[in-house]
Amino acid sequence: MATVSALNKSKVAAILKIAEDLNRIKDIDSLLDRVLFEARRFCRADAGSIYLLEERMLRIQYVQNDTLMRQESGKKLLYQNHAIPVSESSIAGYVAMTRKPLVIADAYAIGRDVPYGFNRSFDGTARYRTRSMLTVPLLASRNRLIGVMQIINALGEDGEAVPFRSEDELVVAYFAHHAAGCIETAKMTREIILRMIGIAEMRDPEETGAHVNRVGAYSIEIYSQWAARHGVADAEVKQVRDVLRIAAMLHDVGKVAISDTLLKKRGPLSTGEYESMQRHVILGARLFRRSTSEWDDMAAAIALNHHEHWDGSGYPGAVDDVASDEWRPGPGKRGEEIPLVARIVALADVYDALSSRRAYKEGWAEERVLGYIREQQGRHFDPELVDVFFSIYDVIRAIKGKYGDA
Ligand code: C2E
Ligand code: SIN
Ligand code: SIN
Ligand code: FE
Ligand code: FE
Repeated sequence: MATVSALNKSKVAAILKIAEDLNRIKDIDSLLDRVLFEARRFCRADAGSIYLLEERMLRIQYVQNDTLMRQESGKKLLYQNHAIPVSESSIAGYVAMTRKPLVIADAYAIGRDVPYGFNRSFDGTARYRTRSMLTVPLLASRNRLIGVMQIINALGEDGEAVPFRSEDELVVAYFAHHAAGCIETAKMTREIILRMIGIAEMRDPEETGAHVNRVGAYSIEIYSQWAARHGVADAEVKQVRDVLRIAAMLHDVGKVAISDTLLKKRGPLSTGEYESMQRHVILGARLFRRSTSEWDDMAAAIALNHHEHWDGSGYPGAVDDVASDEWRPGPGKRGEEIPLVARIVALADVYDALSSRRAYKEGWAEERVLGYIREQQGRHFDPELVDVFFSIYDVIRAIKGKYGDA
């Protein structure tokens, strides 16, 4: 790559290693998270965001901000949901139009001789001060624009924001180029998965998409907080998050084999019908039975165990062989016999199921849902995870706002 020749060899090696890692990440959110993280790490930047192009708007998809993360209430700001037009008036919009990197030394001192200006509203809400900015286009094959990456506040030795170096510009442009290709692939994977789930549940794809996106996002946030409490190493947390999001999204994929009449039944299910419905956990686990990766193992564990209850009153209980049709609902697994990821998805799924309207019930008011979760602490749900859930409740609400039913 000609653009990186200005850098020394060990830096180049490190960058290539990161690029190779990025190729392995299959989930789009994990990928964006990682691309942004690595670009920021290289520039020693405090913050950054990625916008993706959606229907001629730049929609903010990922925000990282070390300063805000250190603050009690900062984390929810990372789940913003706003879009800006592709036009010369904003910095990201300008870069999207010109398709050239743009370096700004101080966002509050942009001259009047340029068409773009800095929008201070995020800074205002977050009480943050944006200073140096490096904004690059994300260009995929055939020079198609897929979004914009923005790196904010390079930090000097004393932790104060300083202007970006010219090598930052080169490296970030390289990441952006490489990432754009990966993002295209990951987006396709995500779309295929959503379509699979849509078919599985025979529901309106948009509604299903919103539900599974929320369950995936709640699950990784609950996991991350749990992991922080248990001192799990960063590298492991990152890896689990990548796999968990998609595995959680697929928890109900076994419903593909459940009849439409049952799935769409308006009233309560008869005992026999409920037993048939319960089979979705086994049917789902079957799909991942021929495990070829850590990913299959987690998806199988979640599909099979997401209706187990902490107190042992859930289903399906011990299952020797998911391929066998002999299975009868047995005594449920209990406590830590249930895999952690399944305990997490159970909570995320029921929170979302209760809040949402179903063919057989109205959505519950938020207070009633929260009351139920508290009441089921130690019964349906892992008691510690319920505490974790409430400790990140502002993040949960922000996710709900971001992935609302369209
Ligand atoms: P789902 O609708 O996505 O619900 C997932 C889980 O959320 C349920 O698992 C249950 O633990 C919880 N949940 C949902 N709605 C309620 C509710 O009104 N009250 C309470 N206390 N909990 C609720 P569960 O019970 O194992 O059900 C699995 C799936 O079976 C449900 O997924 C749904 O597709 C179907 N199902 C369950 N009950 C009924 C019903 O009465 N009528 C119909 N048509 N389908 C049902
Ligand atoms: C689900 O039961 O997992 C999907 C429900 C929905 O689309 O709202
Ligand atoms: C189920 O797990 O059977 C339904 C839960 C859901 O996806 O909402
Ligand atoms: Fe289920
Ligand atoms: Fe669900």
